[in-house]
Amino acid sequence: MTEAQRLILAGVITTIWLLGCVWLLCRHRGTRPLADARADLLVAYASQSGNAAALARQQAQQLAERGRVNILPLNQVSPTLLKNTPKALFVVSTYGEGEPPDNGRRFSQRFLKPQAKSAVDLSHLRYSVIALGDRNYAGFCAFGHQLYQGLAALGAQAEQPLTEIDAANDLMHWQLPAAATPHTSQPVQPLLHWQLCQRQQLNPGSTNAPLYLLSLSMPGPMPVWRAGDVLTIQPKHDPQKIQRWLERTQMEAEKIVVINQRAQSLSDWLAERHLPEQGCPQGSPVTDWLDQLPHLPQRQYSVASVPAEGVLKLIVRLQYRTDGGPGTGSGWLTRYCMTGEHFAATIQANVHCHIHNHRAPLLLIGAGSGLAGMRAQLMQRAAQADAGPVWLIFGERSESHDNPLAHELDYWRDQGLISRLDKTYSQGPQPGYVQYVLNSQAGALKDFMAQDGEIYLCGNKSGMGDGVHQCLQKLLGEQLLEQLTEQGRYHRDLY
Ligand SMILES: Cc1cc2nc3c(=O)[nH]c(=O)nc-3n(C[C@H](O)[C@H](O)[C@H](O)COP(=O)(O)OP(=O)(O)OC[C@H]3O[C@@H](n4cnc5c(N)ncnc54)[C@H](O)[C@@H]3O)c2cc1C
Ligand SMILES: Cc1cc2nc3c(=O)[nH]c(=O)nc-3n(C[C@H](O)[C@H](O)[C@H](O)COP(=O)(O)O)c2cc1C
Repeated sequence: MTEAQRLILAGVITTIWLLGCVWLLCRHRGTRPLADARADLLVAYASQSGNAAALARQQAQQLAERGRVNILPLNQVSPTLLKNTPKALFVVSTYGEGEPPDNGRRFSQRFLKPQAKSAVDLSHLRYSVIALGDRNYAGFCAFGHQLYQGLAALGAQAEQPLTEIDAANDLMHWQLPAAATPHTSQPVQPLLHWQLCQRQQLNPGSTNAPLYLLSLSMPGPMPVWRAGDVLTIQPKHDPQKIQRWLERTQMEAEKIVVINQRAQSLSDWLAERHLPEQGCPQGSPVTDWLDQLPHLPQRQYSVASVPAEGVLKLIVRLQYRTDGGPGTGSGWLTRYCMTGEHFAATIQANVHCHIHNHRAPLLLIGAGSGLAGMRAQLMQRAAQADAGPVWLIFGERSESHDNPLAHELDYWRDQGLISRLDKTYSQGPQPGYVQYVLNSQAGALKDFMAQDGEIYLCGNKSGMGDGVHQCLQKLLGEQLLEQLTEQGRYHRDLY
């Protein structure tokens, strides 16, 4: 090789290396937003299923009209950034039993534990906290409170009292007092009207509560979503319940009422609101009386399809309340909503469950209705010519009656999209759970993860999710699992 050829070769190698570095940097930037050092305001969020993140984005957008805004997941807020930030808004939900969401856990350990107090002086920082939670949990908005108090303990100055939001009741319609919504009065997500096209029971004959596959569409163009996203629905009552209520109160079911420029019958308006003891008082305008009735609480469901399929699919288990009646959300979707009927719902981007690297090996773990999120991830991969291997571990009750989407899963295994399919049943000759499969496959799990693998875990948190999480901690080590979370390679979609 001549000197000139050697120089050209060295030049080519250097260029390839530089391009590689740029590619890695771009990839890194794609998953980790970088902080703008000149920003006047920090908006930081901790969010497990996307509500707090969506609210934070909305707040940041509005605040950007007044100055430069940094918006970051809480875990990416560093001591340097805090030191250089004069003002911050924190939008955080609570997960588990009064715990921070995954993308706020490291911040919590770093800044909110007692030993952190002497480490950072935040006396220059003015802050507010919006806390999302659910009043049905013992520690309502507990992490929001921990954060609010923890920042004060580090010397930061609260600008206003903590704002608590009961997400299931307030978020979609955003009917909050002005003091609670310092920067907005708009709905966080646009409300769309979806139509139920099809509903099919996936476990006929099962001793388990019925599980259904639902297909939804909408008259106009469908919105775009990604695998991992969640549909928040506005449930409605059993129509017979409305009819009985109207008969009792002697109000006119077909009376047309206009609220916010939308005209519909009284019975349609009442369908999605709490029914009061009494009807509208004589002489009062029906519009005002109706408008102050609170909505039924919203419910979330993991989307089970991708937009290319032309329908939005859900996999929903009918839940029963302690009084024996069907659950508010699952009862509406699986019992009362008729094929062809419309209801309000909105898609919630759930960024921390998005999988960006489709070439990486993907381990899908779930049970029961958790198949919803797993199916969406699978379908997203089906659209990629060079998708990496998928190992799917799924648990249900009995092989004979609880084998949802068996043909579809077999098809994708035969096509090579699923490289390994493990199904396990808790009732049968050899009862098993998904944790047992993991335990018996520790070597295969480590190999899978060693190749840049990602894990997506979907389904019930207390029944399955916590067990799998502990098992992964044991098999991979707590530190590695923490790192995988930080690197966006461990996605928990648990409820
Ligand atoms: C991010 C996310 C994704 C989810 N994805 C899915 C999914 O893909 N599929 C799926 O099936 N589920 C999913 N869920 C769960 C779903 O949102 C609901 O929690 C579930 O359907 C039960 O809600 P429900 O309204 O039907 O029941 P509820 O009406 O909330 O009843 C549930 C329980 O609440 C109690 N209860 C509530 N009100 C009363 C009352 N008045 N009297 C007596 N008892 C009462 C009962 O103990 C009952 O067991 C998801 C949840 C989240 C957060
Ligand atoms: C598994 C699970 C555990 C939860 N634990 C709590 C809790 O302890 N306290 C609370 O107020 N809310 C709790 N919630 C309710 C969430 O905080 C609420 O749904 C919120 O809107 C979620 O926001 P996110 O989508 O930003 O994570 C929990 C929700 C789930 C799914």
